[in-house]
Formats: sequence, structure tokens, C-alpha cells
Amino acid sequence: MANTATSLMNQQLDALLFEETNLVANLSNASALLNSTYTDLNWAGFYLYNDTTGELDLGPFQGKVACMHIKIGAGVVGTAFETQSNQRIADVHQFPGHIACDSASNAEVVIPITKNGHQIGVLDVDSPVLDRFSAEEEAELAEFVAILTTHID
Ligand code: SME
Repeated sequence: MANTATSLMNQQLDALLFEETNLVANLSNASALLNSTYTDLNWAGFYLYNDTTGELDLGPFQGKVACMHIKIGAGVVGTAFETQSNQRIADVHQFPGHIACDSASNAEVVIPITKNGHQIGVLDVDSPVLDRFSAEEEAELAEFVAILTTHID
């Protein structure tokens, strides 16, 4: 996907993960790349579906300690997973059921991660700045996830 990525960050992600297949390593570096590229973030990382418990478990991330388990349909993360739709929330305090893992969070984007019809989890990005994320950034983050899925089995 190297030649089709539309932003420097996404080209960097594709290059960073070239021929790398370890899920934890890839998600760790993906969260680090995102956290060092975007400004004004307080959390960037992943929740992964646990098919034994039927919940989302905390995955690799950058930021403060966070909620370990999120139920499907709960908060912004659980809603994105349940509905399999991107969530771009200008003010999380207006979102019914928002889960305040880090009280610094005011805006949030969550992108579902799916590969070959298999629901893997979500990318979650939080900011202390209200209305931090543009529609263009949501699209960039969706492409970030699409590239990531080409590097995980
Ligand atoms: N605020 C999220 C929970 C995850 S943390 O922000 C890392 C939510 O409402 O789903």
C-alpha cells in the first residue's frame, strides 16, 4: 500500500511495518507513530476484541493507564465496535455513556479495525482539546487502520 497512502504519517506506517507481522509489536509502534505525529493528544492506542469474554480488552497504547475492559456498546469505543462505524466526537462529555478513563479527554476519534470480515478491535485517539479532530483527520486515521490491517494476520 506504500504508493497509495495519502499522508506522510501513513506512508511512514506502511514502511515501519514492512515485513513485520507481530501484532503487539506492530500496534505498539503504530500507537507511538500516531502519538508523535498528531499534536494535542493525551491517549492513542487500541482495544482488541476478546472472543472468550465478549469484551474489548486494552491493547498497546501511548498515554496514561486506561480502562482494561470495555463492553460492546459501552462508551465511544464500544459504540464504534458495535456499530462498526467511525466515531468522531467533538465533546465526549455530550456522548451518552462516555467512559472517562482519563479525565483530560475532551474529544475523541474511534475507528473500527476489521480484516477479512473479522472484527479485531478499534483504534482510539483522545485529545484534551474540544473539537480537536477534523473530518480529514478522521479519513487519515481510517486509512491508518486500513494500512495497519495489511500488516496483521
Ligand atoms: N473514552 C473512551 C474509553 C477509552 S479511553 O478514552 C482510553 C470511551 O468512552 O469509550
